[in-house]
Amino acid sequence: MERTLVITKPDALQRNLLGEIIGRLEKKGLKLVGMKMMSIDDLKVEEHYSHHVDKPFFASLKKFMQSSPVVCMVWEGNEAVAAVRLIAGETKGSEADAGTIRGDLSMSVQANVVHVSDSVENANLEVARFFEKDEIFDYKKLDMHYVYFGDDE
Ligand code: RTP
Ligand code: MG
Repeated sequence: MERTLVITKPDALQRNLLGEIIGRLEKKGLKLVGMKMMSIDDLKVEEHYSHHVDKPFFASLKKFMQSSPVVCMVWEGNEAVAAVRLIAGETKGSEADAGTIRGDLSMSVQANVVHVSDSVENANLEVARFFEKDEIFDYKKLDMHYVYFGDDE
């Protein structure tokens, strides 16, 4: 089972898209194992977007990510990292495939409603960055038997 980090960005909160985003992940058959609302501080933005700190758009990205609270979630499932990446779609909303969260709900490269982890390695690092161990819940979810029927349960 993999775990992946999803952050609803400030535009999702402001545009009333939280229920829509969570609903899509729930309906897919993923299991929510952690969730919290927070304001992202300077250190967290710089760590989280360390691959972009030297880019010209970083100041704007940081300002955007701190413009409203975000909601951080950990979703679990078989091959969850790649599955959630597919559901999120390409980075730029106007170019993302229809049917994806970004393709259906956004137009922008920066205001693209969600962050999703891009590899299993980064997912593990990101979950540990945003969640304490006791903020992640290990529980039995009854529909998992039917989500994975006949697969590697
Ligand atoms: P994310 O990390 O947010 O899930 O997005 P991603 O993997 O699809 O894209 P990534 O390259 O990791 O970029 C992280 C976020 O930085 C903003 N960005 N702005 N102005 C620009 O050219 C630009 N490029 C990237 C986007 O908000 C992107 O989601
Ligand atoms: Mg990324």
